[in-house]
Amino acid sequence: MNESKTRRRLVVGNWKMNGNLATNAELLDGITAQWQGVDGVDAALCPPFVYLSQAAHALKNSVIELGAQSVNEHDAGAFTGEISGAMLDDLGCRYVIVGHNERRRLEGETEARVADKFHAALQAGLIPILCVGESEQERDAGQALETIGRQLGVVIERVGLQAFENAVVAYEPVWAVGTGKVASPEQAEEVHRFIRAELGKLGPQTQILYGGSVKPGNAEQLFALPDIDGALLGGASLNADDFVAICKAAG
Ligand code: 13P
Repeated sequence: MNESKTRRRLVVGNWKMNGNLATNAELLDGITAQWQGVDGVDAALCPPFVYLSQAAHALKNSVIELGAQSVNEHDAGAFTGEISGAMLDDLGCRYVIVGHNERRRLEGETEARVADKFHAALQAGLIPILCVGESEQERDAGQALETIGRQLGVVIERVGLQAFENAVVAYEPVWAVGTGKVASPEQAEEVHRFIRAELGKLGPQTQILYGGSVKPGNAEQLFALPDIDGALLGGASLNADDFVAICKAAG
């Protein structure tokens, strides 16, 4: 792939642990019904594991892709409660989120384990969306780039730089997730530019998404930045109007 390749825009909805059969059906209907008019952007939805089949069915005739919120690092075996990459592939997933800060912080996922999961996703033919981002304390201490460089470095060490040819990176500052606080354009652009530089020759072609309180009202400003290629949405992806509006802003 040559360096002048134009990066496509990508908007991904991470539903986290929300929804039920009835509300999902409404959300999926709302999104697909309004999809006409969205142009020039790729999109994916990441429902909870148990609703992947429901979403796969609803998105069958849609260009919107399916993704999962996590993956186990092993192929198969005695790992009660876990889901493998092959299972996600089986259900039609194209993407899988790896290293979300809620899993790092609340489920104790270490950087080494995130790297193993990233590797497992690639092995299963999935596109990992690697989340990186600093905490508020790290930012206040001037350690944002150092933190992100380390999180990225552990994965690069495990899989090699070339593996990023089939991967997406998402910058999600922990302090901006679910808080309504958005990184300023300067803060976001600085980190995105840094990530791109860390990816070396893969930098120019890798999609780098911003995540953290993205809403229809602030999406356009973020997408105008040269190194932001789309968004990883939490709350806004649970509302069909907001999700579609953000996709339109990205297009
Ligand atoms: P919010 O958009 O709700 O801040 O969540 C972002 C996120 O964590 C997406 O993975």
